[in-house]
Amino acid sequence: MAEDPKIKNIKAKEISDSRGNPTIEVNLQTNFGNFKASVPAGVSTGKCEAVNVDIKKAVENVEKIIAPELKDKELRSQKEIDKTLIELDTTQNKSRLGANAILGVSIAACRAAAVSKKIPLYQYISQIAEDIPSQVLPKPSFNMFEGGKHGEESISFQEFMLIPQKDTFKENLEAGKKIYKKLGDILKNKFKEVKLSSEGALTTSVGKITEVLDLILEAAEKTGEKDNVKIAIDAAASEFFQDSSYKVDGRYLSKKELKEFYKDLVAKYPVVSIEDPFYEEDFESFSELKEEIGDKVLIFGDDLTVSNARRINLAEENNSCSGLLLKPNQIGTITETIEAAKLAKSYGWKIMVSNRGGETEDDFIADLAVGVGAEFIKSGAPFTKERMAKYNRLLEIEKEIKNE
Ligand code: PGA
Ligand code: ZN
Repeated sequence: MAEDPKIKNIKAKEISDSRGNPTIEVNLQTNFGNFKASVPAGVSTGKCEAVNVDIKKAVENVEKIIAPELKDKELRSQKEIDKTLIELDTTQNKSRLGANAILGVSIAACRAAAVSKKIPLYQYISQIAEDIPSQVLPKPSFNMFEGGKHGEESISFQEFMLIPQKDTFKENLEAGKKIYKKLGDILKNKFKEVKLSSEGALTTSVGKITEVLDLILEAAEKTGEKDNVKIAIDAAASEFFQDSSYKVDGRYLSKKELKEFYKDLVAKYPVVSIEDPFYEEDFESFSELKEEIGDKVLIFGDDLTVSNARRINLAEENNSCSGLLLKPNQIGTITETIEAAKLAKSYGWKIMVSNRGGETEDDFIADLAVGVGAEFIKSGAPFTKERMAKYNRLLEIEKEIKNE
């Protein structure tokens, strides 16, 4: 039996995320070494997500409340450590200590335990998940163009992603990078100003949603990859929902009209998944869309489900989803994140592990995706440092799994 690590101390400090906003980095010290973790932040957060506290408060909570409680304790299991964190917090939504403070400690503890067991992090995560096989790499869903709160608001959908359909992660990453670069050239030729958006994707004042899709497919075509790509959309519809209508391409659509809009897109483009197609409380419209085109596309819940077992159960009762976006900071601990994935899987849903609008260079979600056997991962564009950290870690895992 491997020796359990003993926690010597836990420190925290403020760092900046990819958007220049303050976030927290935790440093957990054990007899096996020091283990760091940093926490991302959403830009278009769901109403039912776990709550972050101000960074200064989060740092103080780690050092003054969590550290004294865990100091000199053995790190026997992730469940035990997360249970202690949840009990210390006492609230339903982590609002006392902060989901940011709690998650930083939870991730760092997970890393420390994997090292003490001398196994890769993804393998340890799969053990916690009670042996979901950890040999499958997720398909990357690369963010190519952002609208909504992440980019140019004239395009109301938040993310236009590309899922290359090659055999290996490495080939998919190469295809993603090539098409992303080509899209950059095309946009620079056609538009005056092209900017980088939240997740490293591109954004500019394109007139219509279908035009964005055409441009992405043009880039795929010009790189000889058109037949090897599929499209994933994150509408993030809560962000363009107001007074019972949805503002799309400058028009105000009812939920029925928006449903028809999606059906048209799916008929004309190689769209394989739509995330948050409707407002985050409208379980019923999700379900109607799933009823009508669920055989062609996956319907993912993100703001709808917030990686929370109670919301996932509600979505299942209403037949709203066939996929779950999995984001550790929506719920606040690794144990609960893994439980959410297992619950969704038990309903036959697919899993897409996801980054956040405001990211750090922490690559934990790469191991998480492999550990829970997620079918997909979205970590933004294959471009900026904080997004590439996750894709690069997956390259490393693929090499290790294939024994290369
Ligand atoms: P967020 O967006 O991290 O800004 O909330 C990402 C997503 O909606 O998937
Ligand atoms: Zn989303």
